[in-house]
Amino acid sequence: MALDRKPVPNDLSAFWMPFTANRQFKKAPRMLVGAEGMFYHTADGREVLDGTAGLWCCNAGHCRPKITQAIQAQAGELDYAPAFQMGHPKAFELASALRDMAPEGMEHVFFTNSGSESVETALKIAIAYHRARGEGQRTRLIGRERGYHGVNFGGISVGGIVNNRKVYGALLTGVDHLPHTHLPENAFSRGQPEHGAHLADELERIVALHGAETIAAVIVEPMAGSTGVLLPPKGYLERLREITAKHGILLIFDEVITGFGRLGASFAADYFGVLPDMMTTAKGLTNGVIPMGAVLTTPAIHDAFMEGPEHLIELFHGYTYSGNPIAAAAGLATLDTYREEGLFENAATLAPYWEEALHSLKDLPHVIDIRNMGLVGAVELAPIPGAPTKRAFAAFLDAYEKGLMIRTTGDIIALSPPLMIDKAQIDRIVDTLGEVLRGLD
Ligand SMILES: Cc1ncc(COP(=O)(O)O)c(C=O)c1O
Repeated sequence: MALDRKPVPNDLSAFWMPFTANRQFKKAPRMLVGAEGMFYHTADGREVLDGTAGLWCCNAGHCRPKITQAIQAQAGELDYAPAFQMGHPKAFELASALRDMAPEGMEHVFFTNSGSESVETALKIAIAYHRARGEGQRTRLIGRERGYHGVNFGGISVGGIVNNRKVYGALLTGVDHLPHTHLPENAFSRGQPEHGAHLADELERIVALHGAETIAAVIVEPMAGSTGVLLPPKGYLERLREITAKHGILLIFDEVITGFGRLGASFAADYFGVLPDMMTTAKGLTNGVIPMGAVLTTPAIHDAFMEGPEHLIELFHGYTYSGNPIAAAAGLATLDTYREEGLFENAATLAPYWEEALHSLKDLPHVIDIRNMGLVGAVELAPIPGAPTKRAFAAFLDAYEKGLMIRTTGDIIALSPPLMIDKAQIDRIVDTLGEVLRGLD
């Protein structure tokens, strides 16, 4: 029986929107109906400059022909192949392409469908890896305050954004957190802040408290994005690497935002010259067009599982859509687009211009900090007393009316435009944001 359902754009009640003020949105919807390059098109016929690459994911810009065509062709050729005990060529090709793009030492790729799933996968691999090597007591996971690792139970347990955790019960046991790296003395730093490398030493305190032999992994975002762009102080990541290696603890970099050119290098691991044991990715892997994530590991981790009779499954983990053919085709076309158009290089070249432009907002009303790295920026506002988040949300709404998409977390405005941006578009972002800030209460 055909469903009696029509597209009814004025009935917004059924869709319970994620991470959204649903009632506010449904009173005054912000509907995007098209996109091209650096711009969104709205239902009311306006062009909105994308200052956020969607949700930090459309690094190559929107509706890029090569990616669109790859998806269309793949959908007509092989739409789906079972992910377990069967294969199809493009998943293998994409895994190899990722390995070739990743820092040396990241040689194996496990496909997922999102950043959250990549995080869960990496945490599970970490615990199972230690068990496979006869250290099954290493089950503790260490995250960081203000960290964001997606929304599944493992991710919110190691994550440190309070609103994402506090209403969901006891979460995973055996989790501890490093302090975040956001120090007031670093306000208005350009690039990596000077102060705070010592915060990595807190890991020694956690090790002393629990015993290194109980800790499986430390997971951090090399640059924390979703919590409002918190940058790693100089020397901090190096120190974390030293301490984890010394104690046999795996270091996982959550590169869901920093991967695929965001900082002007392929991955943050390249940018900072610090090699973790695993990297979690998603978002820019397919330019955000089709859900897909990937976990990259070293041979030491992968090979620990490749023991025992060959007919047995080595890792009891996977998703129906791991390495999905259409996602794999999108991923391959995306990596080609990044390379052919030199988009990571463009990000690196424009980073100093971006930095200069953003910091020109320093003296505007309510601005208490500006931070930048690669093509990421944050403008932090003083909260309205008694009404945190309200000022930044007002900025978000006004920017949208003025033709600019920004993102806000708390009272922090975060910016992360597609890497195809040019100087004139950077000026347009900063000019519009300046106007918005001048008009705020
Ligand atoms: C660092 C990090 N990890 C994980 C995630 C979760 O990704 P997803 O929303 O695709 O599950 C995000 C999303 O913003 C992220 O920034």
